[in-house]
Amino acid sequence: MRSKNINHVVHEWLNDLIQPNDIIVDATCGQGYDTLFCLQKGANVLGFDVQKEAILKTKQTCSDYNQLQLINDSHAYLSQYITQFNGIVFNLGFLPNSDKSIITTATSTIQAFESALECLPKQGWMCVSFYRGHEGGEEEAQLGIQWMQDHLHIIKTYTYEGVNRAPIAMLGIKR
Ligand SMILES: C[S@@+](CC[C@H](N)C(=O)[O-])C[C@H]1O[C@@H](n2cnc3c(N)ncnc32)[C@H](O)[C@@H]1O
Repeated sequence: MRSKNINHVVHEWLNDLIQPNDIIVDATCGQGYDTLFCLQKGANVLGFDVQKEAILKTKQTCSDYNQLQLINDSHAYLSQYITQFNGIVFNLGFLPNSDKSIITTATSTIQAFESALECLPKQGWMCVSFYRGHEGGEEEAQLGIQWMQDHLHIIKTYTYEGVNRAPIAMLGIKR
């Protein structure tokens, strides 16, 4: 049987987690599809991306919604913009069909994880998709997965079984 697409699986998880009026951080807006999903669930969303192009694209994708604030900065600095939220979603790697050198890195990702943990209440959640096929992706995934296992209660994991360097999605809850 063919595996389910990882983005669809993550949206199934988010569908069960997000309550109307929750405050959610999308740490990597990209084209805005995860942001849109959170908005459609009635959440207030704060979205980050280092690329101006991604911010503009997300604004376009989510133009029907106004409970959205977009920030053209690294998620490593998220605590400068927000101090409390219910959940955070990271879709790591690079923006498809764009400059592949603008990419999340292990260092800034772990910095963002540390900041996010401070801002989450008990039972708050962190949902992360790791991509391992590009340069630096395997290191980011190894360090990020270890960090999540050390700091959160992991309730879901998904990957494509039997596929070399397949992406991995993980959902963790603050203990
Ligand atoms: C895989 S894409 C995200 C896809 C997106 N969630 C969507 O639904 O379309 C990864 C994004 O992370 C962004 N990015 C890379 N480093 C970042 C950082 N330090 N802080 C915030 N965003 C970053 C990239 O510019 C890219 O748009």
